[in-house]
Amino acid sequence: MADFHQLISLEGKVAVVTGASKGLGAAFAPMLAQAGSDIVILCRHKKYLDETARAVHRAGRKALAIECDITRESQVQGMVKQVIGEFGKIDILINNAGTERINRAPEETSLEDWTSVMHTNVDGTFLCAREVGKVMVPRRKGKIINIASISGQVINKYFHGGSYDVSKSAVVALTKALAVEWAPYNITVLAVSPGYYDTDPNRKWFEKNPEIYSNVIDMIPLKRLGAIEELSGFIACLASDVTNYMTGSTIVIDGGYTAW
Ligand SMILES: NC(=O)c1ccc[n+]([C@@H]2O[C@H](COP(=O)([O-])OP(=O)(O)OC[C@H]3O[C@@H](n4cnc5c(N)ncnc54)[C@H](OP(=O)(O)O)[C@@H]3O)[C@@H](O)[C@H]2O)c1
Repeated sequence: MADFHQLISLEGKVAVVTGASKGLGAAFAPMLAQAGSDIVILCRHKKYLDETARAVHRAGRKALAIECDITRESQVQGMVKQVIGEFGKIDILINNAGTERINRAPEETSLEDWTSVMHTNVDGTFLCAREVGKVMVPRRKGKIINIASISGQVINKYFHGGSYDVSKSAVVALTKALAVEWAPYNITVLAVSPGYYDTDPNRKWFEKNPEIYSNVIDMIPLKRLGAIEELSGFIACLASDVTNYMTGSTIVIDGGYTAW
């Protein structure tokens, strides 16, 4: 019989987590480390990665912090080169870095605002997948988890934000496209669509608009925000061999928000 602990373990693996200085990414990195993986963490400001690196070390694993803007092709290529130089491989990519919604009505959204969201959430996510894919393909092995959003599934009530919603729908579509392209190389590609979590973008908006916060909570059947540790634990399970037969899927984790 298969050993459950072995199946779920990330022992000996190398995971790259984008957008790991704060919010969800800062929680994903140490959870993946607890599961046994060495971790590469990145964002645009290296000094903000120190705390995440310490949390990875506390879990007993190596952390490599790299300053990298996911929208800059040469920086993403340099990041992958550095990781290969240090660890020799990449087993897991958590494509998490993203920018928040520009909460403006469509008729007031400039092309510049529109493009900035699409550039980070779609182009940046693609660039990281493409460059990491290039080193996974020859190994015939790899797992990519793209962080989409329920905004890729539905339009969030009480918010404007066409560009954010469109960008996350694109992440869901990109996940399916890459899954099909790379299945012959044994690379699986999944997306996770989280609902509402207590990170900076939501916190700023809800603190300014407490009535919207209550309305949003009321729209969630479980009547609370998601707990980041639940999501991190789930991401670590998804990154394990348990999901080797899953590819192209988007998993929604939203307290039931999209159920009604
Ligand atoms: N929180 C939620 O409730 C929720 C729900 C659904 C989906 N999501 C998605 O989950 C992901 C994380 O969200 P979050 O709430 O944790 O956001 P956050 O707290 O704003 O953190 C975003 C992270 O991404 C990094 N980042 C942003 N732009 C980057 C770029 N161009 N290159 C490299 N790193 C970049 C940021 O660091 P620097 O600014 O230093 O680069 C930071 O580490 C996003 O894709 C978001 O859309 C979040």
